[in-house]
Amino acid sequence: MAAIPSSQIDLRSDTVTQPCRGMREAMARAEVGDDVNGDDPTVIRLQDEVASLLGMEAGLFVPSGTMSNAVAVRTHTQPGDEIIAEEHSHLYVYEGGGYAALSGCSIALVQGKYGLVDPAEVKKRIRKSEGSQSHFPNASLICLENTSNRGGGTCYRLETLNEIGDIARESDCRMHLDGARLFNAVVASGNSASELVAMFDSVSVCLSKGLGAPVGSVLVGSKPFIEEAHRWRKMFGGGMRQSGILAAAGLYALNHNLDRLKDDHNRARKLAESIQGLNGLHISMDTVESNMVYVQTEESADKWKKQLEEHGVLCFALGENTLRLLTHLHIDEEQVERAGKVFADLSRK
Ligand SMILES: Cc1ncc(COP(=O)(O)O)c(C=O)c1O
Repeated sequence: MAAIPSSQIDLRSDTVTQPCRGMREAMARAEVGDDVNGDDPTVIRLQDEVASLLGMEAGLFVPSGTMSNAVAVRTHTQPGDEIIAEEHSHLYVYEGGGYAALSGCSIALVQGKYGLVDPAEVKKRIRKSEGSQSHFPNASLICLENTSNRGGGTCYRLETLNEIGDIARESDCRMHLDGARLFNAVVASGNSASELVAMFDSVSVCLSKGLGAPVGSVLVGSKPFIEEAHRWRKMFGGGMRQSGILAAAGLYALNHNLDRLKDDHNRARKLAESIQGLNGLHISMDTVESNMVYVQTEESADKWKKQLEEHGVLCFALGENTLRLLTHLHIDEEQVERAGKVFADLSRK
């Protein structure tokens, strides 16, 4: 796709993409109804399409990935329950503590490696009220993230997911997947979406990240789960009316932008290869599995970010010595080369 006209190379996030002409036309043409009344045909089509792609019974269109996770946690748990998640997960770090405020849950954190958890570590964190003389909260939900954002875009192996699924079943816990970038994991792992989510009770997928839609996520699960989630979406203020206009962008994204995710992954790899080994910069190349590149800087990441920006390369500084670069729809080969050269020039100064 043609880059958005800009002299800047915007590697901050895959959320910065703008809807292309074809997507905007699909939105303008969308047949709409009133989705709060359940009669918006385009929303129904999107929900069904995502559910079917993931091998689930039903789907629910929600405004954001954060709301999707919040609705899932609320639907699966009772106040006083405990949820289990990786210590750098989006749900724990970047969702305002919604699990506590909106669901009344505590959280047990698992230390992961590059954002991915080990099944044995998950098992150790499961506490049950029963048998503890009511000392412990009740662990009822295990939340995983695939790909892992703070892990560097890393992907779970299918065997690991199956093992954690077995532990969840043995422990009477449900499983929720924050699959904001599930389709990146599909492309990177070679597994189908339905294989990667078969052990989960619910999955949230984002349309507004690598897929390039302007807004929206879809939460999928069993029919009874989605019926209950529908009620929580209402209470969280996420019921939308002529949202078929937004759903049409999501359908367009699914039909046009899935296969091309491999281009983003190849470009992230190229970018990482051009930076790795430069003076004062380090990349764990094993983590570059999808569209993200995390760069460790010997000097302050903020200083690097500012210098890069002066040379037309935008990225995020996460923490004192970490830069995050993401490839997406608007980043082409030439920009990857140019960004690599800027890093090389700055590293010589
Ligand atoms: C892994 C992950 N989950 C959830 C979200 C939340 O999505 P949203 O920004 O649509 O609320 C993000 C956003 O970047 C994310 O990276």
